[in-house]
Amino acid sequence: MTRDQVDIVLIAAGWTAAVGAAGLVVSRVIAARSLRWLVALVALVAVGGVIAGVIGTADAMFLSSHDRGVVLLVCLVAGLVAVFFSFVVSSSVVRGSDALRENARRFGETGEYAASTTGPAELQALSAELARTAEKLRDSREREEMLETSRRELVAWVSHDLRSPLAGLRAMTEALEDGMAEDPTRYHRQMRSEVDRMVRMVDDLFELSRIHAGVLQVSLQNVDLGDIVSEAIAGADPVARAAGVRLGGMVEPGAMVNADPAGLSRVVANLVTNAIRHTPTDGVVSITGRVVENTVELAVTDACGGIPDEDLHRVFDVAWRGTSARTPEVDQQHGTGAGLGLAIVKGIVEAHHGMVQVVNESPGCRFLVRLPA
Ligand SMILES: Nc1ncnc2c1ncn2[C@@H]1O[C@H](COP(=O)(O)OP(=O)(O)O)[C@@H](O)[C@H]1O
Ligand SMILES: [Mg+2]
Repeated sequence: MTRDQVDIVLIAAGWTAAVGAAGLVVSRVIAARSLRWLVALVALVAVGGVIAGVIGTADAMFLSSHDRGVVLLVCLVAGLVAVFFSFVVSSSVVRGSDALRENARRFGETGEYAASTTGPAELQALSAELARTAEKLRDSREREEMLETSRRELVAWVSHDLRSPLAGLRAMTEALEDGMAEDPTRYHRQMRSEVDRMVRMVDDLFELSRIHAGVLQVSLQNVDLGDIVSEAIAGADPVARAAGVRLGGMVEPGAMVNADPAGLSRVVANLVTNAIRHTPTDGVVSITGRVVENTVELAVTDACGGIPDEDLHRVFDVAWRGTSARTPEVDQQHGTGAGLGLAIVKGIVEAHHGMVQVVNESPGCRFLVRLPA
């Protein structure tokens, strides 16, 4: 590079740098303005830099004042075109962001979000992200509403379920008091069973509130799943016989699990009770246990005829009972029927860091519990 060229580069750099610095100051001032102004500023700085460079190096180029005038005029026209062009380009960006803002506003009002598919990639990505967030929000809102409804129903149902046995008890005690009872022993037996049922229901509610408060204590021990299942089968056998349901089970020998024995027994008992209740006469309920890698898997299979697909994810909800019709058909032996059993199962299993799920499997459904071994 010749000496002249070096001079020219240095002079041009100085002049254009001055324009660039001025542009930087202006960009700070208008930083909060519309994108249009910033894009126009970029065009202006580019052309302004050229003009400043031409003026600064005019002598070195031996330009006549006429030639210099021509060059500057050309630059001026180029500048105008550049600014116009920048407005056109930034307009489309601004339109895109306006549309995005409008969509976001509507989302705030109606909860519906329509992702826009025009505009620059960044805005489209932002829009798609908003659409996903809107989806998640809608899901969690629906879930929240459903839980709120079941909580309200729970209170209504539990009061209903407590009121009828209480009314029965009052009638029976009054009859006994007045000496009107023909068969006092029968009355006493019936009162006892009503009281037992209410105690069970209150126990379930208490257990559930402890689960929800997160204060459920699990004292882990190494327990044999086979023992737990045998006890559960022995306990449920009379009920199964009465219902004409065949109850059986098979646990892999030596399937040990680190669990709270009382909690685990409760889980199995609740699942088996449900399975028997929903299985028709002559149906089969089977309990199986096995070790899969480092988890223990317990499955309770029944012949309930399947749970409707749209209900599958609700069975573990508090107070959910399959139908919204609250039939006061009360099951004396099988438990409270307040829709708490599976919520308790889920709570206990999760306190063990395990998981529980249900799948339909002809002729019924299968509840599957997985616990860390
Ligand atoms: N083994 C099963 N087969 C078919 N449906 C079931 C079974 N277990 C539970 N369900 C359904 O899930 C609901 C909730 O069960 P659960 O929480 O135990 O409450 P409850 O037994 O008091 O009704 C039941 O009312 C029933 O509709
Ligand atoms: Mg139940």
